[in-house]
Amino acid sequence: MAGRIPRQFIDDLLNRVDIVDVVDSRVALKKKGKEYVACCPFHGEKTPSFTVSQQKQFYHCFGCGAHGTALSFIMEYERLDFVDAVETLAADYQIEVPRESAGSPQNQDDKLALYEQLQKAAELYAAELKGSKRAIDYLKKRGLSGEIAKTFEIGYSPDNWDFILKKLGHSPGQIKHLLKAGLLIEKSASKQYDRFRDRIMFPIRDRRGRVIGFGGRILDQGEPKYLNSPETPVFHKGTELYGLYEARQAVRNLERIVIVEGYMDVMALAQHGVPYAVATLGTATSTEQISRLFRIVPELVFCYDGDAAGKKAAWRALENSLPVLHDGVQARFLFLPDGEDPDSLIRQEGQQAFEERLQSATPLSDFMLDHLSESLDLNSIDGRARLSDLAKPLIGKLSSGIFKDLLSQQLAQRVGLSSQHMQQHIPHNEPAAVSRPSKKPGRYDIQITPIRLAIALLIQYPELCREHELPEELKQLDIPGLQLLHNLHQTIISSQSFQPSAILERWRGQPDEGAINKLMLMDIPGSDNAEQRKQAFGDAIHHLLQQYKKQRIDTLLSKGQLDADEKAELSQLYQP
Ligand code: UTP
Ligand code: MN
Repeated sequence: MAGRIPRQFIDDLLNRVDIVDVVDSRVALKKKGKEYVACCPFHGEKTPSFTVSQQKQFYHCFGCGAHGTALSFIMEYERLDFVDAVETLAADYQIEVPRESAGSPQNQDDKLALYEQLQKAAELYAAELKGSKRAIDYLKKRGLSGEIAKTFEIGYSPDNWDFILKKLGHSPGQIKHLLKAGLLIEKSASKQYDRFRDRIMFPIRDRRGRVIGFGGRILDQGEPKYLNSPETPVFHKGTELYGLYEARQAVRNLERIVIVEGYMDVMALAQHGVPYAVATLGTATSTEQISRLFRIVPELVFCYDGDAAGKKAAWRALENSLPVLHDGVQARFLFLPDGEDPDSLIRQEGQQAFEERLQSATPLSDFMLDHLSESLDLNSIDGRARLSDLAKPLIGKLSSGIFKDLLSQQLAQRVGLSSQHMQQHIPHNEPAAVSRPSKKPGRYDIQITPIRLAIALLIQYPELCREHELPEELKQLDIPGLQLLHNLHQTIISSQSFQPSAILERWRGQPDEGAINKLMLMDIPGSDNAEQRKQAFGDAIHHLLQQYKKQRIDTLLSKGQLDADEKAELSQLYQP
């Protein structure tokens, strides 16, 4: 696993990028006064209400309420998770993302060497394919077009024990990297040989398009039919998906992804007009993979054989989906006719018919209840009770929301209970569901109070910290938001970063994230003027101090009996 991205790096990155460029290279912006505007890419509109502030390094749509930093924008626009968004933004600026500990410099260098060897191997295999009539004939027989072979960079590993070894293993260091990358196998310290021989080669790419491993298919009969790269420092079967990179390249705004079992299925579907399929790499679809996909699209269709093995694989996928299902996404299941796989089916019936199947695939809820009911007699009380016993823990894995309620209702109907009764028996679960940042429509009309004003000024103009200390005694003021004000002040001082969005990023995923975002959006009258905002901040702090004094006086007075120190403090507090 890659190490953490250092906080400092994210600060530096956000200090270096300009959100205006970041947005403008994806959605053309127009200058309007001090700000930049465009039609919002996150909802349909004809007049621009999407606004980018260069000063705050922050965007906000007055129409749909979407807002955030350059990183939030990339997450939303390219539907990436946070780490991917950091990688993407850094790549835009040709900066390599450093990693803490797990990615020690040595490790990092090592990985770069592996990527390089894997890329070179892919190129060598692709070049070999051009010269091998046997391999070309095989692909023709399978009906693959040259174009699709090129898109997926299909290759051929010649029937040779030392093809890669000779081409890429010129030094002990290189041989070590080839071994680590899974391209070579070591027989003894002095004897290595090629892992892939006489196979059609499918390069597996990561989210950034780097080759991280291979699948190799035998041309004739033989075992194993597919040979895959082993787990390596850059290749993790449980998290990667074959074809995901290619799908994202092919479709600008993916709406749906189909999950299939094989390399050939992905390619056949792409060739016949369904360029949005991905395959797991000979393993069950993991929660991590599903969660990753739901960050990209709201709809997944799992596609399996209709036989017992297919049903079993589908059930695993269902179980692994439950923890990451949330309102706004859906998973469905498509079971194929006997003996068919997506590859054979789409060749027979074409894109339209296949997409119709996708359209009418079984919703997860139906699959769940049907599958559980299979061996039960729902006409008997026992059978219905059993169904309810089986389904409740599964439904309990869902995070609360409409989908969970509907599924409980559906279960209630089947077992013949009121849904209220049923819901009392469903366990609660509030996991960190992968929801997109919520977009609340409208402007943020919040009442301006001294504490809100102080926080808003600090987050929008962090350099105010240079001129203002926070009085020590303020820490004891007991009002909502005070802790946030202190943390904010501390964060700015200790990071010495005075860039609003870089500071804001530190609250991502924290309990105060929503509050601080709202305050970033707050319109502060007169704040354009440096003198005025200094004054306003000073006034707010003064006001809070007064509030503290009042609170303290009340506390002391309510005590009745005061000692000498307290009496002195009290008279101090009464000074103007
Ligand atoms: P299948 O056996 O269903 O093959 O394996 P397929 O995809 O239909 O391939 P063709 O059409 O015969 O060429 C499905 C997936 O299971 C993994 C591979 O990822 C394959 O794509 N698999 C299968 C292996 O890893 N090793 C094997 O020996 C077989
Ligand atoms: Mn097949």
